Amino acid sequence: MTGNENQEPDRLKPVLQIRLVTNRHAVEQERFFFRSKIGYAVKIPMTRTVKFDGRPIWAEVSLGALTQNLRAIRNHVNPAGAPGARHPRRKILAVIKSNAYGHGIVPVARALSRARADWFGVTCSAEGAELRESGIREPILILTGFWAGEEQRILEHHLTPAIMRPEQLRLLEKAAAHSYKRARKPRKGPVDFHLKIDSGMNRLGIAPPELPAFARVLAECPHLRLSGTFTHIASSEVFTTEQTIEQEKSFRAALACMNSLGLDPGIVHMANSAAIVSRPSTWYQMVRPGAILYGYHQFFEPSTLNPEMEAKLPVRPVLSFRARIISLKELAPGARVGYNARWTADKPSRVAVLAAGYADGLVRVLSNKGRIIVRGQFAPIIGTVSMDLTAADVTGISEARVGDIATIYGTDGGTTQSVPDVARVANTASAELLCALGKRVPRFYLP
Ligand SMILES: Cc1ncc(COP(=O)(O)O)c(C=O)c1O
Repeated sequence: MTGNENQEPDRLKPVLQIRLVTNRHAVEQERFFFRSKIGYAVKIPMTRTVKFDGRPIWAEVSLGALTQNLRAIRNHVNPAGAPGARHPRRKILAVIKSNAYGHGIVPVARALSRARADWFGVTCSAEGAELRESGIREPILILTGFWAGEEQRILEHHLTPAIMRPEQLRLLEKAAAHSYKRARKPRKGPVDFHLKIDSGMNRLGIAPPELPAFARVLAECPHLRLSGTFTHIASSEVFTTEQTIEQEKSFRAALACMNSLGLDPGIVHMANSAAIVSRPSTWYQMVRPGAILYGYHQFFEPSTLNPEMEAKLPVRPVLSFRARIISLKELAPGARVGYNARWTADKPSRVAVLAAGYADGLVRVLSNKGRIIVRGQFAPIIGTVSMDLTAADVTGISEARVGDIATIYGTDGGTTQSVPDVARVANTASAELLCALGKRVPRFYLP
C-alpha cells in the first residue's frame, strides 16, 4: 500500500488484513470497526489488529466522528425550532482544502456529502477538479480565487471562484463568453462567483471603498452572476481585542453599500470555526467550519474561555496517528541518541525507535520536547526527530516491546494525546500539524 491512496472502508484492498489478536492490552483499548473485503463489519480491538504490508505507520480517520461533528455544527447554528420561510436553515460550507486538513479530500468529501454538507470550500481549481472527478456534485467554492490561466478549469468543472480584485471579473467574463460561443452544448446559465470583501484582515478581498468600481466592472460582465458575498475573520477566537467586532461593522457597511449600488449579495457568509462556536452575529446564511469539523477547537483568548466554548459545541477528533516501535536499545549512562547527539542518557535507559519522522508529520520541533503514548503511558521524545525515525525514552515502561504501537495523536488505553495538546508544545496551530501529515502515511477510513 502506498501512502497517498485514499481508501474508504468498503474499498480496503486485500493487502489490508484484519487480524484478531487476543492481548490484554489490546482488549483494554478502544474498539473500532473495519468493514472486511467480504462486506460485513467486524468488531475488533484497536490498532493491534491493523496489519498491512509496508512501513508500520498509519492514520485512522473516523468518518463517524466527522459526520457527527458536521451534525453538531448544523444543530448549533440552527438553534431555534424548525426552519421555515422566515428563518431558512443555515447552510454549511465544509472547508476541505489542503487534502481536507490532511485527512484525505475525496473520502472526507464523500462522507460529508452523504451527511448533507451543502457546500465545499477548497483553495484552488486543482482541488475542485479532483472533487468533481471523484463524483462530488455539491457547489464548490474556490476560497482563494484563481490565478490567470485557471478560468477554463473553473468553467469546465462548474466551480465557484471567489473574486478578490475587479480585474478578475474581466478574466472570468472573457472565459465565460468564449465558452458560450464555442461549446457544442451552450451553458444554461451565467457563471456564478462569490465576492470576497476585505473587512480588515488586509490580505485578500475588495475593500468597501472599492465596491463602486467593482460594481461598474460587473455591469460589463453579462455572463457572470454574483451569487455569494463573504469575508474572513482574522481573530475570531480572540476576545481580548475588538478586531472581530470592527470586522463585523466593516462587513455590514459593505453589504449596505452593495444594497445602495443595487447589488444583490447572494448568500452571505463570514464565520470560521471559532466564530461558529462563539459569535452568532457572524453566522448569516452559511458558515464555513474547518478545524471544528475535524474535532478541534481553537485556542481562545483569554484561555479561561476554552472550557465554556468547548462545552457549547462538543466535537470529537477525527484523526488518530500511530506507528510501531521498530527497535529497542538498552543504553548505558553517557550514551547519546540521534543526530547531533542532542540527548544523553543520565542513567541506564531503554530507548525505543518508532517508524515516524518529520516526513510523516511528526514535526521536528518536538525534538526533546514532545511525547508519545506506549501501552497507555506517556514516553518522552528524546533527541532530534529525524526524517523517518523518532526515539522515545521508555525506561519507565518495562513491558514495551518491538512491534508495540506508539500513538502520536489519539487514545491508547486510558491515555489521550490530542492534536491541540501537541500544537501547544510545538507552539503552532492544530491545522498546521494536520496539514503536515505525510503523503506516504496510509489513511484508513473507519465508519
Ligand atoms: C476563507 C476561509 N473560511 C473558513 C476557513 C476555516 O477556518 P477554521 O479552520 O478556523 O474553521 C478557512 C481556513 O483557513 C478559510 O480560509
